[in-house]
Amino acid sequence: MSKLEFGPMPDAQGYFGEYGGQIIPPELQAVMNDIDKAYEEIRQMPEFQDELKTLFADYIGRPSALFHARRLSDKLGGAQIFLKREDLNHTGAHKVNHCLGEALLAKYMGKTKVIAETGAGQHGVALATACALVGIPCEIHMGQVDIEKEHPNVVKMKILGCTLIPVTRGTATLKDAVDSAFEEYLKDPQNYIYAIGSVVGPHPFPKMVRDFQSVIGEEAREQFLSRFGKLPDYLTACVGGGCNSIGLFTAFLNDEDVQMVGVEPAGKGLDTDQHSATLTLGKPGQIHGMKCYVLETEDGEPMPVHSIASGLDYPGVGPQHSYLKDLGRVQYATATDQECLDAYMTLSRVEGIIPALESSHAVAWAIRTAPTLSKDKTILINISGRGDKDADYVAELLKL
Ligand SMILES: Cc1ncc(COP(=O)(O)O)c(C=O)c1O
Repeated sequence: MSKLEFGPMPDAQGYFGEYGGQIIPPELQAVMNDIDKAYEEIRQMPEFQDELKTLFADYIGRPSALFHARRLSDKLGGAQIFLKREDLNHTGAHKVNHCLGEALLAKYMGKTKVIAETGAGQHGVALATACALVGIPCEIHMGQVDIEKEHPNVVKMKILGCTLIPVTRGTATLKDAVDSAFEEYLKDPQNYIYAIGSVVGPHPFPKMVRDFQSVIGEEAREQFLSRFGKLPDYLTACVGGGCNSIGLFTAFLNDEDVQMVGVEPAGKGLDTDQHSATLTLGKPGQIHGMKCYVLETEDGEPMPVHSIASGLDYPGVGPQHSYLKDLGRVQYATATDQECLDAYMTLSRVEGIIPALESSHAVAWAIRTAPTLSKDKTILINISGRGDKDADYVAELLKL
């Protein structure tokens, strides 16, 4: 296998090619640079590494399983499908990987409060969990629309002891929750830490969150090699902000023969204004302190976006994805709400695994693609989370 040339990313200023950076006032840049410095020091400390490694194993339950979905593969009659089971993690999704990292970092930095936004509630639950474990107060901002849609996660966050702030401004979804949480953070950035829910925001967050999530791909690469003596032909994962996908892709970036596909929500159709396909239809712009692909209105405002999966409706995307798209190293495809619902039901009924609506986007891509490939090809899907949280919503939509 020939080597590509992906060195360490981002550069010292936090750029992935032209994307990323710190598009924030100078005083905030100083705060972010302090976080970066502390992170770079703390991540090298053997006690930090040992604590995180132990918690990944004993608390989250890592490594997550690699499962050969034989019945689904047989049904589709093409490529063999494998699932990386992040849905089996404690809290039911990949978000806990970086939440534990961020909460531990906050503890090592002596911070007094952890603040974050949440979309589907997965990041909120994972962070509230990590903060309960580490013993740091936690405040989560969540759009009112998402609060109503994701009731089980809302209740869990309250049980876990975090302060939940409902956000009613704008479209009352993820973007507004990010704005609200960031405003709270700015009140005392010396003592608070913002625990971003994905590989987005100003440097160093896209790097930090990516590093904590990279365990997904590192494990998958090792599991595949040791079991089959080769790497998968395709990797696929859904893309909201982009952390579960970058977490899977990173370990494989230099494996030229491994093709990678990030799947964005086409919502009600790419020809409507009801989608969230940032890399597919957006253009380079700025949002939340970083340069990345953005979906904008004609006035240059972030577009109100839509996806059946709350965790994917974000008009920006991680800067590393923006860069990988321009380089052509990762392909970005889409799946509609309907395809996603079909995939949710198919995986549930054929394999007995209920995937999150977010993850179902990647499942939809695999279901569409596997029949076009020969049986000796392999597709590895990142099942980023479990779909119990979506069950009532799906049952209502499908009148089950
Ligand atoms: C289960 C699940 N998958 C995927 C995502 C999307 O986030 P990201 O693209 O950062 O992995 C979310 C967000 O809440 C989620 O809950």
